[in-house]
Amino acid sequence: MNITRRNFLKLAGTAGLLFSFGKVHAATNEKILIVYYSRTGEEYGLGNITKGNTAIVAEIIATKTGADIFEIKPVTPYPVDYEECKKVASREKATKARPPFVGDIDISGYDIIFVGYPIWYGDAPQIVYTFLEGHDFGGKKIVPFCTHGGSGLSSTDQTISLTCPTAKILQGFELRGAVAQNNRSQAESVVEEKLRRLGLI
Ligand SMILES: Cc1cc2nc3c(=O)[nH]c(=O)nc-3n(C[C@H](O)[C@H](O)[C@H](O)COP(=O)(O)O)c2cc1C
Repeated sequence: MNITRRNFLKLAGTAGLLFSFGKVHAATNEKILIVYYSRTGEEYGLGNITKGNTAIVAEIIATKTGADIFEIKPVTPYPVDYEECKKVASREKATKARPPFVGDIDISGYDIIFVGYPIWYGDAPQIVYTFLEGHDFGGKKIVPFCTHGGSGLSSTDQTISLTCPTAKILQGFELRGAVAQNNRSQAESVVEEKLRRLGLI
């Protein structure tokens, strides 16, 4: 019998075999990508961090799903100094700047795209919109996720929906930066709960 890769994955999924085959998720037969921006340096209440809070969450999702991952790296890095970074972020927000990022990824082959970012002034950093506006999200599912100091998603799921009107925006999730940075087991359980709801684990 000639079993195609697609049929094999369907069979595997039906049998409840939850594993990644290549980068196609066996349970849902969907290709998953994580795109995120995260900053290192001086962070309010956390001191000098060498791995960004959102990066930690992105990596947990990747480990648990086998998804591909793309980090949005600014051409001009944001200041390490917290107060200086606030000045740049505030100026970018006021001017709706679209800062360029390094490299790119072809998202056409992906079905579900997790989009992660810190909350900056009640919004996603403008560079995240550079990415969103620069790609065709038509027909794709977007799962927004963020880390923050208390604001939660802060309506960024709605802003992303306006930016990507042809995508289906699934319910996002959030966690405090301090939890991502200092409480691995709590961060993992937030991610796991979300992935379970999405049927990805
Ligand atoms: C410029 C700037 C603005 C911020 N604005 C907010 C805010 O409006 N609300 C909030 O809850 N946290 C705010 N924060 C805190 C970050 O969202 C939080 O520390 C986040 O976890 C950082 O993630 P990262 O390490 O992935 O960059 C701000 C941080 C910075 C640097």
